[in-house]
Amino acid sequence: MRLKGKSALITGSARGIGKAFAEAYAREGATVAIADIDLEAAQTTAKAIGSAAYAVQLDVTDQSSIEAAVKAVEAKAGGLDVLVNNAAIFDLAPIVEISRASYEKLFSVNVAGTLFMLQAAARSMIARGKGGRIINMASQAGRRGEPLVAVYCATKAAVISLTQSAGLDLIKHRINVNGIAPGVVDSDMWDQVDALFAKYENRPKGEKKRLVGEGVPYGRMGKPEDLAGMAVFLASDEAEYIVAQTYNVDGGQWMS
Ligand SMILES: NC(=O)c1ccc[n+]([C@@H]2O[C@H](COP(=O)([O-])OP(=O)(O)OC[C@H]3O[C@@H](n4cnc5c(N)ncnc54)[C@H](O)[C@@H]3O)[C@@H](O)[C@H]2O)c1
Repeated sequence: MRLKGKSALITGSARGIGKAFAEAYAREGATVAIADIDLEAAQTTAKAIGSAAYAVQLDVTDQSSIEAAVKAVEAKAGGLDVLVNNAAIFDLAPIVEISRASYEKLFSVNVAGTLFMLQAAARSMIARGKGGRIINMASQAGRRGEPLVAVYCATKAAVISLTQSAGLDLIKHRINVNGIAPGVVDSDMWDQVDALFAKYENRPKGEKKRLVGEGVPYGRMGKPEDLAGMAVFLASDEAEYIVAQTYNVDGGQWMS
């Protein structure tokens, strides 16, 4: 029960990695807002977790939706102790084919969504005066560029940078901002990644996924649950002295 009595909001937690975090947080004693653009899926996930979870409608690209979600958590749980900025989207294309629409959509969800969610959570935590924890989901894609993945990689590099700046700015309020950089994790997102690589690299469906799994030093792709230990740790009292860091949790893919 390392998160006993804590109130958490996890963006994009209707499925995938965010859902695994919500399950782990509930097991550790937290109350969790399953905040997602897909309200129906969020409700299904909250119901499956039980009384510790509740669904909140959230579009991280919409400022009024961000503010309403934080208010909903304050009303339901008396305040916000932990924000996990997990919602993100993916796209890929060769440099010469990247569209402005794809660029703007990815930066709007992955970067502006992270920053303005973090800002709203920080304002709420500062007003309450009890500090807090903010965890941003980065990626190994933020550690270096990839030929077909320029925009997504740039958004995740920006998340690592925002984690550093926000971490340094907010620690005076006892708000610890840190990040997690997964490698390759089997989720709906990776099904989309695989389909896009199949198109651009002329591969049969499923092949890219198999190859990246074989390339992980641990010997397989990650599962959403593989990330949950770090997300619990960073939200727990044990992580009090950790500030502005982004941790690789990737089966040995990346070293930094
Ligand atoms: N899957 C991987 O291999 C991998 C690797 C590295 C990093 N990550 C990162 O981990 C996080 C979770 O990834 P995942 O694989 O579970 O993704 P996913 O696509 O399975 O789930 C993402 C969730 O975010 C929600 N969402 C999308 N746009 C939203 C918006 N505007 N507002 C609110 N919610 C929105 C979706 O409805 C969905 O429930 C992301 O930040 C992703 O970039 C994933």
